[in-house]
Amino acid sequence: MKLLLSESEIKKRVKELADTISKDYKNKSPIFIGILNGCYVFMADLLRELSISTEVDFVKIRSYEDDSSTGTIKFRKDISADIDDRHIIIVEDIIDSGFTINFLVNRLKEAGPKSVSVASILYKKTVAKLDFEIDYVGFEIPPEFVVGYGLDYNEKYRNLKDVMVMEPEDID
Ligand code: IMP
Ligand code: MG
Repeated sequence: MKLLLSESEIKKRVKELADTISKDYKNKSPIFIGILNGCYVFMADLLRELSISTEVDFVKIRSYEDDSSTGTIKFRKDISADIDDRHIIIVEDIIDSGFTINFLVNRLKEAGPKSVSVASILYKKTVAKLDFEIDYVGFEIPPEFVVGYGLDYNEKYRNLKDVMVMEPEDID
């Protein structure tokens, strides 16, 4: 595996994102909705750098098998929070095709929130097909399969501190 983003680069960028979000959401007490499982490392780091009041909730959805998108979304856990009239920030590990985030943004908007924005630590912008901008992006990365910092290959490697590119010989 090849190093793409080091622990210290990530830490610095997460702090910058948190500072921006703290400014943008001052006195708004947003609800952060993390997309499990991939969000858990980024979400924990991001929220601990914020200086505003927050609430958290999670959804669990799945579109990936092995290293490619299946093109269908499976909902494993829906939100529990009442998001009507609240500011929502979705927290994602990576936006690849954009399929997952498009689906979730549209779905959450049906529940009548005040606003919906998206924070993703990684963004494969060249392959994503989105009709909206991602509000808070950690890093734009090339369209390669990466693991670490919450991202997995078949549920492995989520605990790596750096983001690594999987090379063809790593994929079994
Ligand atoms: P999308 O629906 O194609 O945007 O894919 C989003 C989901 O696919 C993410 O939440 C990840 O769980 C997974 N995914 C996409 N690219 C990668 C990758 O390079 N490594 C690990 N998981 C990925
Ligand atoms: Mg994910």
